[in-house]
Amino acid sequence: MKRLNSQLQHDGAPLELVLLIRTLLAACKEISFRVSQGALAGVLGSTLSENVQGETQKKLDVISNQILKDILSESGYVKAISSEEEESVVPCSPNGNYLVSFDPLDGSSNTEINSLIGTIFSIAHAPQWMEADDPSAFLQPGTQMVAAGYVLYGPSTMLAMTTGRGTHLYTLDKTHGGFLLTHPNVKIPVQTSEFSINTSNQRHWQEPIQSYVSELLAGSEGPREKDYNMRWVAAMVGDVHRVLCRGGIFMYPFDKRNPQMPGKLRLLYEANPMAFLVEQAGGLASTGSGRIMDVMPEEIHQRVPVIIGSKEEVENCVARFK
Ligand code: AHG
Ligand code: MN
Ligand code: MN
Ligand code: MN
Repeated sequence: MKRLNSQLQHDGAPLELVLLIRTLLAACKEISFRVSQGALAGVLGSTLSENVQGETQKKLDVISNQILKDILSESGYVKAISSEEEESVVPCSPNGNYLVSFDPLDGSSNTEINSLIGTIFSIAHAPQWMEADDPSAFLQPGTQMVAAGYVLYGPSTMLAMTTGRGTHLYTLDKTHGGFLLTHPNVKIPVQTSEFSINTSNQRHWQEPIQSYVSELLAGSEGPREKDYNMRWVAAMVGDVHRVLCRGGIFMYPFDKRNPQMPGKLRLLYEANPMAFLVEQAGGLASTGSGRIMDVMPEEIHQRVPVIIGSKEEVENCVARFK
């Protein structure tokens, strides 16, 4: 089986980017180990602190963030990082050529129940003019990403990654510690009969999502003339992984409860990297009013509505916003 390195070379990734990705994955392997120790290592449960998003941080949110931050800032490749768990941009190496944004632990409410969690990341070039502590360099649209992916800490530890030449899935071979290419060039089926949305928020959705989901629920008796199945992992990383493996549509729409907050998921380190992976696998990624990767960020923790997955299903949903 092909190793990660040779696939990256095959896809034309420059050497420094390959070295950065390997460094980042070294951090993820350590997170994978810590996560697997669970209660034995006392890493489960909450801390007493809140992050900038107003969420109570889990111990594993803090530990994963620290591991990534330490390894990336010592690597020399990274000028600055932005993270879900850091209020501001963290300056790293003044001569670093890359910016990394990450969600150190996605789905952290799943840590308590030994269920799916992961790390999501995106990488862009650091502009030459940029001072390492300047957040404005992170405010580039997703189209500027040079690589993005996630590591899923599931029954196997898997990596999904793209450098713009297709989306590939790798599996961590714990016997030698390397990621092996197990699913090259994944393609999301254009049609699907599986959807993913937290229906407990239904009363807060806008009309387009109301009408779309009610048609899916009507099944073969409704206008779609087929039955749909529903899945919700409560970790975007798990839900998007399923979409990459067998298709589907995943939504976290705008929520009328909080008009200041256009959706729950964060653009830089959740929506954009997943959009890049899904588009490279032949799917679509929309906010309802446009392509996720075209959104010009206004701040590093900006949130966006997310509608991603199988092409024809995303098109059907998004058409209702016009
Ligand atoms: P995080 O754990 O990084 O804060 O992200 C959680 C996000 C996302 O992974 C998931 O899709 C969503 O929150 C789940 O939200 P619900 O609480 O509505 O299930
Ligand atoms: Mn969180
Ligand atoms: Mn997350
Ligand atoms: Mn998180």
